[in-house]
Amino acid sequence: MTEQSPGLSNLLTENRTFPPSPEFAEQANADTSWYERAESDREAFWAEQAERLHWDTKWSQVLDWSGAPVAKWFVGGKLNVAYNCVDRHVESGHGDQVAIHWVGEPGDTRDLTYADLKNEVSKAANALTSLGVTAGDRVAIQLQMIPEAIVAMLACARIGALHSVVFGGFSPTALRQRVDDAAAKVVITSDGQYRRGKAAPMKANVDEALAGAESVEKVIVVRRTGDPETPMTEGRDVWWHDLVDEQSVEHTPEAFDAEHPLFILYTSGTTGKPKGILHTSGGYLTQVAYTHNVVFDHKPGEDVYWCTADIGWVTGHSYIVYGPLANRVTQVVYEGTPNTPHEGRHWEIIQKYKVSIYYTAPTLIRTFMKWGDDIPARYDLSSLRVLGSVGEPINPEAWIWYREHIGRGEIPVVDTWWQTETGAIMISPLPGVTATKPGSAQKPLPGISAIVVDDTGKEVPPGGGGYLVLDKPWPSMLRGIWGDDERFRETYWSRFADLGYYFAGDGAKYDDDGDIWLLGRVDDVMNVSGHRISTTEVESALVSHPTVAEAAVVGATDPTTGQGIVAFVILRGNAADGGEQAVQDLRNHVAKEIGPIAKPRQIMIVPELPKTRSGKIMRRLLRDIAENRQIGDVTTLADSSVMDLITQGLQTGK
Ligand code: WT7
Repeated sequence: MTEQSPGLSNLLTENRTFPPSPEFAEQANADTSWYERAESDREAFWAEQAERLHWDTKWSQVLDWSGAPVAKWFVGGKLNVAYNCVDRHVESGHGDQVAIHWVGEPGDTRDLTYADLKNEVSKAANALTSLGVTAGDRVAIQLQMIPEAIVAMLACARIGALHSVVFGGFSPTALRQRVDDAAAKVVITSDGQYRRGKAAPMKANVDEALAGAESVEKVIVVRRTGDPETPMTEGRDVWWHDLVDEQSVEHTPEAFDAEHPLFILYTSGTTGKPKGILHTSGGYLTQVAYTHNVVFDHKPGEDVYWCTADIGWVTGHSYIVYGPLANRVTQVVYEGTPNTPHEGRHWEIIQKYKVSIYYTAPTLIRTFMKWGDDIPARYDLSSLRVLGSVGEPINPEAWIWYREHIGRGEIPVVDTWWQTETGAIMISPLPGVTATKPGSAQKPLPGISAIVVDDTGKEVPPGGGGYLVLDKPWPSMLRGIWGDDERFRETYWSRFADLGYYFAGDGAKYDDDGDIWLLGRVDDVMNVSGHRISTTEVESALVSHPTVAEAAVVGATDPTTGQGIVAFVILRGNAADGGEQAVQDLRNHVAKEIGPIAKPRQIMIVPELPKTRSGKIMRRLLRDIAENRQIGDVTTLADSSVMDLITQGLQTGK
């Protein structure tokens, strides 16, 4: 069965519920009838949701599942995603509505209306076209949270080019891997980024990544920090302001097929090589718009929304760019870290812009708890009316704190479960409908089906636990892994092949009411601060260091980040003793290879690793050590004395 970390089992003893207030329920976008309507005719329900968008050509069939597991949604339909997110709001008379209240880390601000956004996106689309980018080409984007990041994504969508956004904190090696995998023609980046009050170079890293990258013809550089040392390669590199500013604001959006690819986003799997998750246009935009509307109860023109994610992750794609903008949001976009220049920064921004919907991650909520209740208490947070959480299971203590200290003890908290692969929210309470339970994502949304099954694929009864599967196709489902059809089928569809279920990789449980509780990953993927990192990825980085002979990595429960990375390393015979410096060097090496988010919390130098007779590392035992537990059953070890050797070595510091 699934291996659970002990911290999660206490989730299941939680039994408080919080029904919505009658006033909230009264004005909510969705009500209980939506579940019944969707259940009685799923396709008719999704057709109704697709009407939220502007279609240049209407579809002739809602779903074609004959090519399963590759779905076609809204067959024959044509639309332009960027037109839906921008132009149509200007055409309907909302050009003056603020789309983005942007807040820079040093305190500079910029407001962009929908009319401004239309001009910027059109100019950027013309600029990309002038560089020879056409529909189907790939554009890699490594940018921090500045308006140009969103403009660049929409400009790609507008001309039918696929963007591949690479998180700003990823290393040159990680960027290069992604650029090569997708054979990106253009890379968009910036001179540098502000991080914790300091300007750090970005373009220099991008240059390191792109040395010899054959697919890349042009690099567009946004000026943000004004770093005079920014290296520019003659003939390849061009400044955004030189290229984009002089373009025409006229650009006619072309309608693309509903299944035209929209973007690739890389995520960690169980091997070292990241998977390029492919999403397409019509179904994706339908589901992100629908979910953003009902899960956050968003009212266009009234609410001020803020999702604190980075566009480098899927949350930024679906709930900063596509869903919210399709719904004519007014939103805050913040460039920096939550404690720069002080720990009240988020609350100060909420107070200033009267944010009414706030969507963040458990790791940050736990960090706010650590910083102290008195910090949010200093600000006026009375504009808030919905709070959301995403990225990992939220522990009831954090959920309750969030509702009490940020939500005045009265507003709905929605815990939203989904994945890069699902594209949009799948399991979540509805704020005007559901009596929420701290720690549970509860029920699949109307139109979505998700069940918990045992090893054989049989649904478990109330109170039972097993694997989370998605047993029916959904509009924003991934359409594949870029360039690796075999891996797509193997990873998600082979586990329950006979039943045709999508295997999510998460353990889950039903409570006695039949509500779903997510219990964390069941594969070799760690979840650190809501970011997926594979154990193999970190192991490969470690063994690429000249002093390392062998490495095994586990995710250990961490009070703030959900999981922390703990590595067990065997040094080569000729390497110096594993002193403090050696450990520091290894931690920095991983940060350099993958990015600072993958830096192990702890590295233990050990003489041996526990292995089965077939040579498979028994991570379960290493997790016992990492979490300071009594070591479990060692009978399947090839050499059962190994664990003694490891623990003794750790005690004596050898
Ligand atoms: C994995 C997906 C979804 C956008 C951010 C992460 C975990 C995500 C929840 C939640 C419990 C959650 C799962 C999932 N996860 N949200 N509300 N409760 N677990 O996207 O990087 O693709 O990671 O994050 O383990 O499989 P991602």
